[in-house]
Amino acid sequence: MDAGGFWFVMSLGSVGLVLCLVLVLNHYLPLVLKLGPHLPRGSFGWPLLGETLAFLKPHPSNSIGAFLQDHCSRYGKVFKSHLFFSPTVVSCDQELNYFILQNEDKLFQCSYPKPIHGILGEISMLVAVGDIHKRLRNVALSLVTTIKSKPEFLSDIEKIAIQILESWRGRNQVLFCEEARKFTFNVIVKQVLGLTPDEPQTAEILQDFLTFMKGLISLPLYIPGTPYARAVQARRRICCTVKAIIEERRRDASGKFNKRSDFLEILLGVDSLSQDEKVSFVLDSLLGGYETTSVLMAMVVHFLAQSPTALAHLKLEHQNIKKMKKEGELLNWEDYKKMVFTQNVITEALRYGNVVKFVHRKALKDVKFRDYVIPSGWKVLPVLSAVHLDPSLHADALQFYPWRWESQDQTCKKFIPFGGGTRCCPGSELAKVEVAFFLHHLVQKFRWRTEDGDQPLAHPYVEFQKGLVLKVEPCTL
Ligand code: HEM
Repeated sequence: MDAGGFWFVMSLGSVGLVLCLVLVLNHYLPLVLKLGPHLPRGSFGWPLLGETLAFLKPHPSNSIGAFLQDHCSRYGKVFKSHLFFSPTVVSCDQELNYFILQNEDKLFQCSYPKPIHGILGEISMLVAVGDIHKRLRNVALSLVTTIKSKPEFLSDIEKIAIQILESWRGRNQVLFCEEARKFTFNVIVKQVLGLTPDEPQTAEILQDFLTFMKGLISLPLYIPGTPYARAVQARRRICCTVKAIIEERRRDASGKFNKRSDFLEILLGVDSLSQDEKVSFVLDSLLGGYETTSVLMAMVVHFLAQSPTALAHLKLEHQNIKKMKKEGELLNWEDYKKMVFTQNVITEALRYGNVVKFVHRKALKDVKFRDYVIPSGWKVLPVLSAVHLDPSLHADALQFYPWRWESQDQTCKKFIPFGGGTRCCPGSELAKVEVAFFLHHLVQKFRWRTEDGDQPLAHPYVEFQKGLVLKVEPCTL
């Protein structure tokens, strides 16, 4: 190597060394700045990545996973860590989780990783904060109330459930996660856009939507061809499709769409939202209502397959409801209210299965809670699943036992599958009705067995590795 080459390698090495030092300093600086007896115990792990990989390691969703197990036993239910490139306080404590969720925009604020904003867009209700969020949420809540009062709300859900189950006739095996996604997608697209499964726009949106979902869980690199870049483009295409539907409705204000009673029709009449906000709103509803509900359905079916007593009890409840109906008569709210055990099964699947493991927040100021101080600007992760699986809060917490809800209030701090406070899920009731109505027909039409080994895994988004294969046979009543 000549002298020029030597100095080139040396300077490159020095730049590398300085960069490494900056990274290390940047990683541990928050610890030095906030050093004090009141910071929760814990560890910052490796520079840059911190403990993120260990935190994200997949585990059965009805367990808290090795990372939380290890950290809680070492440091307690509240500990510090370094996750998603930020200094973080992780909370597995029911009181702190409740306190965080109840103090949205006062002491804490929703704070999803930046790449998610890139895909969802800044006016998405899922990431918006402060006054923008308040305005979007008010519209969402009034829309949900209006749509629930329409007679088509329940009948649409039931007809789609019947249609899916009809397509199982003659089959002895189905990939349940796929069927559940088909069901929840068709329901949400019907509720929001008024589209039926066989309309070409439904297939178009589904295709783009699947690409969009893949991007949400991919490496956030905007390089053409990557899942992330494809997701951003898919979002644009969905927006165009929704805008075209809106335009079609506007042009046809007095024509065939006039009698529609979907979300979009009501949304179009809302003056407080811009066109882009309305489009983003539709996307939020699709996103919020699709995967979560289908995962819940798969969990219910999976847990019931392992709990024959609960299944028999459930079946009896639905047979009794059916007996009171005329041939072909559809279900109504009164019937739904009679599905008491079904509600307990759904509630228990939400507790035991944990569709959403944790939510993202950041501290807006130094927050004192018990003996700890959560420093301003730090990320805060309330882990919902840790509260659901805490044996000091739920007897036999690691067992699927729907009967526990016969004597327990479901609106309590120790059961928060839909979050809490001003960001609490606006779609919780829709999700529960969907599952209950699907079950009503499923338990009366089919018997099913699951394959050994497939179980819900938290990645942290929940997935059945093999898609939950069901061996099915029609019931002969
Ligand atoms: C099993 C089903 C579901 C579960 C477990 C679930 C869970 C959650 C959770 C935990 C949050 C709070 C997120 C946070 O605090 O950061 C949330 C928010 C939200 N969910 Fe759901 N959800 C479900 C179904 C639905 C459905 C069916 C819809 C739409 C129709 C929906 C739409 C939304 C929206 C728009 C938000 C944002 C609310 C806000 O930020 O104010 N979800 N959901």
